Amino acid sequence: MRRTLIAGNWKMNGSLAANDVLLAGLKQGVGDDLVDVAVCVPAPYLAQCAAALQGTSIRLGAQDVSTSVSGAYTGEVSGAMLQDFGCRYVIVGHSERRSYHGETSAVVARKALAALAAGLTPIVCVGETLDERDAERTAAVVGAQLDAVLDAVAATDLAKLVIAYEPVWAIGTGKTATPQMAQAVHAVLRARLAARDAEAASQVQILYGGSMKPDNAADLLAMADIDGGLIGGAALKAADFNAIIAAARQ
Ligand code: PGA
Repeated sequence: MRRTLIAGNWKMNGSLAANDVLLAGLKQGVGDDLVDVAVCVPAPYLAQCAAALQGTSIRLGAQDVSTSVSGAYTGEVSGAMLQDFGCRYVIVGHSERRSYHGETSAVVARKALAALAAGLTPIVCVGETLDERDAERTAAVVGAQLDAVLDAVAATDLAKLVIAYEPVWAIGTGKTATPQMAQAVHAVLRARLAARDAEAASQVQILYGGSMKPDNAADLLAMADIDGGLIGGAALKAADFNAIIAAARQ
């Protein structure tokens, strides 16, 4: 049985003071090991968050990783550096990186490989735009985004991936895919994985992301192939994030 993973994506938000408040609130929300919980924080705050989360079951993650191991790559952060700060997860291929930073699926695949090589779990994001959905290209778009990563990753590492389906039109917009819409895409993604390795496909957590909130989390998480959430806006308020974790426990 797959465990549920609720991962917060703080994006470029926070400050030392605000993070202290948020982390204190999150620590009150965890208490059992029924649900995997993680926060993916801005790189400058990794040390702060690692220290604050020590001894708790909340896992640490980052939001991006370099394709390179080390060297003359100004501004980049390597997988080994994230590992140094106790990261377990790193988001790769978020739609904001794909659209604002020109990350292609080929680059995303290399980032997934860099994460795995550093012993990190990549949370590989895929998702279609509204135009692509309207043109009924959702399955083709997310399938191609996923395949780029699956083509690159060794067969023995497939089960180490986490996938996040994040429809671009639902991110930060308050528009959520209905549970049925999301489930349909999650099923496509799992079938795509199963075509490579049925056993791995049954193990990989596929998260939904895009305006997941306390009031819609339970219905989304009830779907057969939705194994958790990648939470943006609602991850910045401890009460909301904790309410989503509580919904995941049911
Ligand atoms: P949102 O963001 O929950 O604010 O829509 C999700 C994400 O981009 O990961």
